[in-house]
Amino acid sequence: MQNAAFAALGLDWRYLAFEVAPENLRAAIEGAKVMGFAGLNLTVPHKLLAVNLMDALDESARVWGAVNTIRFEGRTPQSDWRPPGHFEKDAPVEIRTVGFNTDADALVNALRADLQLELSGKKVLLLGAGGAGRTAALRLAAENVSALFLVNRTSSKILEIQQEIKQKFPAVYVGLDYPKPPHSEIDLLINATSLGLKSDDPSPLDEKLFSFRQTAAVYDMIYRPSATALLRAARSAGCTTANGLGMLLYQGARAFEIWTGKTAPLEVMRRALEHNIYGL
Ligand code: ATR
Repeated sequence: MQNAAFAALGLDWRYLAFEVAPENLRAAIEGAKVMGFAGLNLTVPHKLLAVNLMDALDESARVWGAVNTIRFEGRTPQSDWRPPGHFEKDAPVEIRTVGFNTDADALVNALRADLQLELSGKKVLLLGAGGAGRTAALRLAAENVSALFLVNRTSSKILEIQQEIKQKFPAVYVGLDYPKPPHSEIDLLINATSLGLKSDDPSPLDEKLFSFRQTAAVYDMIYRPSATALLRAARSAGCTTANGLGMLLYQGARAFEIWTGKTAPLEVMRRALEHNIYGL
């Protein structure tokens, strides 16, 4: 999607993938810096580690506690920091790393675009409390959902998230179980577990404890396969559904804008994703 976007805007840039062991993350970032990279994306397991490696953090990375996008900035002779692409003739005297998080807002943008959902005042059941689940819980709380029900295999993790939300967003009710009467009807169920990534994975939802009749919409952060067991069951039960492709798209579009300073060509990027991931 990034290469399609560069091409669409006539930028002579390339997006490449590298596999880096966690213990080499610092060296990899330093290497990219001295080789004149404009920026980096990071994924599992680097997003938390990178927070402490940055020279500066954008508010998004500070608030959500994870970095998925790095921009290399150069210091001009006048001593201000400029994004890449501004140093065609003279190399900057010094380069710094700035960490951003584009994942958290991507969830809100995807829910708005794909499920026509405004989160304020809504009740949400969130399955999963790993990296993606934690960020989603905090972001949903920041969006003023009225109630958040957290379910995870390892219960200590949802307890920690509940404490964090209590401190930062005291108006949001956080339950540590499936919703029960009189609050058993909700607006949205989100899967943030990794159950569903393998095509024979079972659904992460315990249908003995929660029925699809209790929710209007179901969102699965997984985009490959395009329809997990959870989404297939939700669809047959009549729920509105969407998979995680929108999240992938919106986090990438924002990263593109952070690096290039230009508006991301969203439809070009969406078509590139659909072509590369689903062969459409
Ligand atoms: P990510 O960065 O994608 O969030 P992660 O931090 O490894 O990845 O989190 C994976 C999530 O999927 C966790 O909520 C995990 O539950 P635990 O916290 O109990 O480990 C959940 N998960 C993974 N495999 C699971 C399984 N077989 N059954 C239920 N939950 C599972």
